[in-house]
Amino acid sequence: MQSDIERVLFDVPAIHKRLDEMAAQITTDYRHRELVVIAILAGSLIFMSDLLRRIPLPLKLDCLSVVSYHGKTQTSGEVIFKQSTLPDVVSRDVLILDDILDSGYTLAAVREKLETAKPRSVRVCVLLSKRKQRARDVGADYVGFEIDDEFVVGYGLDFMERYRNLPYLGVLRKELLEQSGE
Ligand code: IMP
Ligand code: MG
Repeated sequence: MQSDIERVLFDVPAIHKRLDEMAAQITTDYRHRELVVIAILAGSLIFMSDLLRRIPLPLKLDCLSVVSYHGKTQTSGEVIFKQSTLPDVVSRDVLILDDILDSGYTLAAVREKLETAKPRSVRVCVLLSKRKQRARDVGADYVGFEIDDEFVVGYGLDFMERYRNLPYLGVLRKELLEQSGE
């Protein structure tokens, strides 16, 4: 697994230091609010578990599973929700957590869908945001790290469902993307 990584982008101490800062900000912003965290599976799982344990506020946690990639590195643009029912967010302060903001299709679709349930507020928190022109005009309120437009894996992020368990974030070797026909 390690030999498939071209270079390490953020090691474990760098990730944890940034999570401390993000959690402190979120804790300040949501003091005295009724926070409902909606984590997008499966990419945000590791990020979510490390981040939420740093937020000492009463909160509810729900997960949403969506598919947009179909195993490829390029988004199809179509976002399919795997659940038929949405978490109960009426009049609640919702914080959506995702691993990475890339084209924006996923977060735009999730945000729109949750807004139909009339929450009090909706904010977006991502570990990574790619510096690029997005297909959908969606921003994030909390961003761990801004990165170049490269394919990254580890710390929950996958390539064809592999590498999620790498403890750090790294750039995947280009020839692996090419070999798979991407
Ligand atoms: P978007 O809909 O294009 O913004 O993509 C969001 C989803 O695509 C993320 O939640 C990831 O699952 C996946 N994704 C986008 N870029 C990367 C990457 O560099 N590495 C791994 N997964 C990625
Ligand atoms: Mg993925």
